[in-house]
Amino acid sequence: MEARPQDDFEPRFDRAGTAGGGRILVIDDDEEVRYLLRYLLTHEGFDVDDAATREEAFDRLTANVPDVVLLDLHLSGRAGHEAIPMLRSDPRTRFVPVVMITGGATRKDKLDAIAAGVTDFLAKPFDGEELVARIRNLVRLKRYTDAFEEAQAVIIALAATIDARDPYTAGHSERVSYYAELLGRAIGVSAEDQRLLHFGGLFHDIGKIAIRDSVLLKPGKLTPEEFKEIQRHPVAGRDLLKDMRTLDAAIPIVYHHHERYDGSGYPEGLKGDSIPLLARIASVADVYDALTTSRPYRAAMTRHEALEVMEAERKKGWWDPELFDEFRAALESLPEGFLPGGEEA
Ligand SMILES: [Fe+2]
Ligand SMILES: [Fe+2]
Repeated sequence: MEARPQDDFEPRFDRAGTAGGGRILVIDDDEEVRYLLRYLLTHEGFDVDDAATREEAFDRLTANVPDVVLLDLHLSGRAGHEAIPMLRSDPRTRFVPVVMITGGATRKDKLDAIAAGVTDFLAKPFDGEELVARIRNLVRLKRYTDAFEEAQAVIIALAATIDARDPYTAGHSERVSYYAELLGRAIGVSAEDQRLLHFGGLFHDIGKIAIRDSVLLKPGKLTPEEFKEIQRHPVAGRDLLKDMRTLDAAIPIVYHHHERYDGSGYPEGLKGDSIPLLARIASVADVYDALTTSRPYRAAMTRHEALEVMEAERKKGWWDPELFDEFRAALESLPEGFLPGGEEA
């Protein structure tokens, strides 16, 4: 039986010190309202903090990120409105649900607030029971978001450890991600496909986690068996990501990034346009980064040298010819010697 996410979710991600309720920040310049909300919510098991001014609120927000913010729309002039973009632009608080407390808000006020990213409204005077029920829902939502962000952060950290196992490939995944996105943008793929190229680039070699150090880091020539083992990494990568709902759309990139346009690649030996477009993009990015960074047996190639090598490979039929030309053109927007995320080559 498939477990419902909620079944095992809440206890695990409950934070210590919140008594299961959640952390609420009340931002209101009306002392009476703050007192009332604090009293009501504390009684219901929430951990409540409050702030009277925007400045105070900023301090509280950054010191202790809340699960839900209750914000007075009319906090000294337009300060209530101004607080929202601030919350949404800070990575620590961008997913925190914001409930706007509205006294005499006009329809326009509300529409502006929704456009700015307010999650919900609460009209004064409050119905205590309704308030608590809504906040409970929002805390749950916030915890899901936290869990998602944590899982994503773990995977990204994991991807970085793969590059870190081999000093010669440090930062490789990040750069492949950068080049793949660059090429994707150049040929006008959708924003969603750009996102997939970003993650696909970060995770394309994640299957190397399953390869032994003695093979992965072997300085000399690989035996045919060892080479076969290395070639398993796209399959291992696909298997690692297949149950992750947020990343499974990037699997074609991970699984097919060693295919070649003429069908001489692996794991499937796919040919031409039957290789998924995003994988064809990533493979060009992957090879370019491998050539332009140093290896135990050779120094890093310049952009020109790398493109010459790839041009010869393109003639052999390895790379999608149009994509290769687009990539070469897109690279011209970068300064010579530029290495994404690192020092100059
Ligand atoms: Fe690879
Ligand atoms: Fe790679």
